[in-house]
Amino acid sequence: MAVTVLTHPLIQHKLTILRDIDTGVKIFREVVGEISMLMCYEAMRDLPLEEIKVMTPVAEANSMALAGKKLALVPILRAGLGMVDGILSLIPSAKVAHIGLYRDPETLQPVEYYCKMPPDIADRDCFILDPMLATGGTAAEAARFLKDAGARSIKLLTILSAPPGVDKMESSHPDVEIITCAVDGHLNNHGYIVPGLGDAGDRIFGTK
Ligand code: URA
Repeated sequence: MAVTVLTHPLIQHKLTILRDIDTGVKIFREVVGEISMLMCYEAMRDLPLEEIKVMTPVAEANSMALAGKKLALVPILRAGLGMVDGILSLIPSAKVAHIGLYRDPETLQPVEYYCKMPPDIADRDCFILDPMLATGGTAAEAARFLKDAGARSIKLLTILSAPPGVDKMESSHPDVEIITCAVDGHLNNHGYIVPGLGDAGDRIFGTK
């Protein structure tokens, strides 16, 4: 499985803003949107192109256009929602599938409470969106849902990762590429990434 760490200076700078305890909810939410947009730009690097003819004000040109591959964004509720709008501003025609999974605070295992996908999900390139890849339980479960629904092309876009989450995805879904901005050291006893950025959902939605 490929883990792509986005080392671009702009992305690393924005990640530092997200890590900072003094970053308030407004800026945090905006920067999650911006960094998601930049991540999507990288995640789409291998999309197929086709040559088309276009008339410029000067002459006809042979020029490249996306070859019409369809995309589905799959935010894992709730923190994944924070990544949707930034990506939709780049790809407004993408469909959005929702997967509601939460981590049981005792067992840290994923529990499903909502799932709604477009009927043609099997024909789409799927981007699972979750800002944090900690134990990997929810991301692995989301990938399993998508595969059960017929999806064959899946990438995981996660702002911050930890080794257990990467290992979990590698063992359960070696075909799913992980695109992330950093792989941090470890998880603490509550399953939080260390040093991480705290609870992404709470910081996006201002619930703590
Ligand atoms: N989810 C979060 O929001 N933060 C973590 O550090 C781990 C999981």
